[in-house]
Amino acid sequence: PEDVRVYEFAEACGKSPAEVITVLFGLGMMVTKNDFLKQDELEILGEEFGIEVTVKDALEDANYVDDYEVEEVDDSNFVTRPPVVTIMGHVDHGKTSLLDKIRSSKVAKGEAGGITQHISAYTIEQNNQKITFVDTPGHAAFSAMRARGADVTDIVIIVVAADDGVMPQTEEVISHAKASGCPIIVAVNKMDKETANMDMVKAQMAEKEMTPVDWGGDIEFIGVSAHTGQGIDDLLENILLQAEILELQADPDAKAKATVVESLLEKGRGPVATVIVQNGTLRVGDNIVCDTTYGRVKAITNDMGKPVKELGLSETGNVLGLNDVPVAGSFMVAQNSDKEAREIATTRAEHARAKELSKSTKVSLEEMSGLI
Ligand code: GTP
Ligand code: MG
Repeated sequence: PEDVRVYEFAEACGKSPAEVITVLFGLGMMVTKNDFLKQDELEILGEEFGIEVTVKDALEDANYVDDYEVEEVDDSNFVTRPPVVTIMGHVDHGKTSLLDKIRSSKVAKGEAGGITQHISAYTIEQNNQKITFVDTPGHAAFSAMRARGADVTDIVIIVVAADDGVMPQTEEVISHAKASGCPIIVAVNKMDKETANMDMVKAQMAEKEMTPVDWGGDIEFIGVSAHTGQGIDDLLENILLQAEILELQADPDAKAKATVVESLLEKGRGPVATVIVQNGTLRVGDNIVCDTTYGRVKAITNDMGKPVKELGLSETGNVLGLNDVPVAGSFMVAQNSDKEAREIATTRAEHARAKELSKSTKVSLEEMSGLI
């Protein structure tokens, strides 16, 4: 994939090089017309322009240029997909508590006892409609994922404690959320506290150009309590409303594409990747490639820790079967064959190594010239 230059890609999909450069620039990636596009850049561009970019073959020959094809996205199978919601906010304002409360109040009775530990993502149902929640591993990671084009978030919830109000990290979160372009909902948490002051929070947020709807702005403020559960239904209804406006769609029959939100090496189980499915359906037995790792999906456990055969659109679960631990933020993509998956991963690994090498050569040359 690194053999595709910006202008070649633009030509192949009927865009001007400037359009391609603008999209990448908007995501903080500086490229010029003659630069080679990286895999993640190609994926971002594909998404941005609504086309599917398929890397035809792994690059055996580094000078091979015509190594890609561009297809129109077939939207005839599109169905509405559930929203993916990320919760952000100042430390201790109750993000985790709120996520845990939402989950424990929404899972089917009898299953609630199965929740033993906090997990990074889960899906609930509200009025027969699904919502997937993600606990951000911190907004630095959120931005890093977004920069890679791997952000799965459709809607951002900013949690502000009703007694503390806007704090330094709330301000950071506001700017990250705004930059993401996602609709934002403010959850004013800890409303059960005597010192809770909704108006104070609204006034402070309005100063940051986050004006509440009832003050003539366009941001919904929902009072909630992670302790009592107050306001949670309101919050969920609001999420579904925002999702409806977004008209989120994807193709359940497409080749599976998921984003890794967390990964680890588990004793006895090997590499485990927590993923959210963005397109298609991820199934046990699928040949997958994930950045420089690959494998065949050996098992999937859902957000309740139960084994399942597949994960549908916007659903989340743990995937076993990769040969190594993939980095969070990488895409997991189903391939037609075992061979294909391995070749792509191997080639990417080679490219990554080559790049590292060229970097270190450059550094040593610079160091040397400094010495001379
Ligand atoms: P970090 O992950 O450390 O940034 O914190 P967090 O935002 O996830 O907050 P967490 O859920 O850990 O809650 C922090 C503290 O606030 C805990 O002691 C919670 O019990 C308390 N807390 C959270 N929500 C509420 C609430 O609705 N009401 C009250 N009274 N306390 C709450
Ligand atoms: Mg937390």
